[in-house]
Amino acid sequence: MTSYVAAIDQGTTSTRCMIFNHEGRVVSVDQREHEQIFPRAGWVEHNAEEIWENTRRVAAGALAKADLTAKDIAAVGITNQRETALVWDKTTGKPVYNAIVWQDTRTDRIVTELGNLGGGQERYRDKVGLPLATYFSGPKVKWILDNVEGARAKAEAGDLLFGNMDTWVLWNMTGGADGGVHVTDPTNASRTMLMDLDTLQWDAEIAGEMGIPLSMLPEIRSSSEEYGKVREKGALAGVPIAGILGDQQAATFGQACLSPGEAKNTYGTGNFMLLNTGTEKVMSQNGLLTTVCYKIGSNDTVYALEGSIAVTGSLVQWLRDNLGMITTAAEIEEHARSVEDNGGAYFVPAFSGLFAPYWRSDARGAIVGLTRFVNKGHLARAVLEATAFQSREVIDAMNADSGVPLKSLKVDGGMVVNELLMQFQADILGVPVIRPVVNETTALGAAYAAGLAVGFWKSEDDIRTNWAQDKQWDPSMDDARREREYRNWKKAVTKTFDWVS
Ligand code: G3P
Repeated sequence: MTSYVAAIDQGTTSTRCMIFNHEGRVVSVDQREHEQIFPRAGWVEHNAEEIWENTRRVAAGALAKADLTAKDIAAVGITNQRETALVWDKTTGKPVYNAIVWQDTRTDRIVTELGNLGGGQERYRDKVGLPLATYFSGPKVKWILDNVEGARAKAEAGDLLFGNMDTWVLWNMTGGADGGVHVTDPTNASRTMLMDLDTLQWDAEIAGEMGIPLSMLPEIRSSSEEYGKVREKGALAGVPIAGILGDQQAATFGQACLSPGEAKNTYGTGNFMLLNTGTEKVMSQNGLLTTVCYKIGSNDTVYALEGSIAVTGSLVQWLRDNLGMITTAAEIEEHARSVEDNGGAYFVPAFSGLFAPYWRSDARGAIVGLTRFVNKGHLARAVLEATAFQSREVIDAMNADSGVPLKSLKVDGGMVVNELLMQFQADILGVPVIRPVVNETTALGAAYAAGLAVGFWKSEDDIRTNWAQDKQWDPSMDDARREREYRNWKKAVTKTFDWVS
């Protein structure tokens, strides 16, 4: 009797395996961080072999902690940091270069040149729902083929494979160079700039303009179906792999945002707000992305509007790792609580340029409003408030695009344990913020996709039934203060523009 479903969550800072029971509750978790590689300013890389090794270990770890074996697991789902691009040799299984992480801005010139072919930043928007920006995978693959010696010739000869981290993990789990399955799902494919949002197929014209051979692209299958069984001899050997969702779409699914008009905001290394728009593909007029939300088996494709913010939780990590201002991420709340407000300081963390709603790769971070009055507590507050202000900008854009103001916001992710931040978020949005009992919605969403495919869960109604509220924060700030704070933030943002030409 198989009573559980496993999820591999290959994220930006760590890889986790989580085991869930039928009620969608966490039974066990194992996690390993991997190295963040910063070879130059603006460059961010991961060692894909380290990530694969971590994946194997956390799968074994999670099973061991729950005292389970592969026989207890009905299916495994994969969820992943999206856009992070990897190219590897299909015969040796070795990456030709480190994975280029979604936060990396090295493709700045490539995206400008593509825009100069006509249409600027909007060149591919109609087909792929995205503005030309350094964020997405396609230009990163082009960079690898242009810059790694011999890579283009090998790619053209059909010897190289491309994948986001879902594809890399799946390929290795299903046998690697010995018959590994080279597949992705539409949520991940919709972040490459190479997939047509209507047909859910690779667009030969765009791939051609980026010089990317179609032969290296994975097959696009649905987000919930059996792709193969785990063939490597690890802890999950023999278990069907039956779900793939990019991490933000997985969180949307795990949060039971299954009807048009439902939205969630995940507070991870960055923040990502997704609004389910149903089977309608809504094109943004306000700096948001149109993306695939999920495609369950042969059901119609469900789309989403997304507001992506590059730096939120990673700003707290930066204070810890680069400045040594705190020793643990949790300390930030203590410092922030030592003062009443931000003391006039605003911190705009444009470390990867600015994503939604600006899409400016020329922006760089700034702290403004400093006086001798400002102390560590004020800066800690400014750091936390940056997350809430950026989310307000995204929600404003979403309200403008959809014409229907959000009445409340479901939240999840690492930072939502921070009570001060959650209260400030409700205050600055002016709507209630709601946290679910199971905050691990990303892994849960991938588990649901896999469990639905094998009949462990019968329908999306099971997901709705399992969702339960933990806590709600209601707005308590007066309107005048809210709008004054937000105006100051907007002014601070303008100070980050034009730093890179
Ligand atoms: O688009 C990037 C996003 O998928 C990364 O998510 O949770 O790894 O920061 P996370």
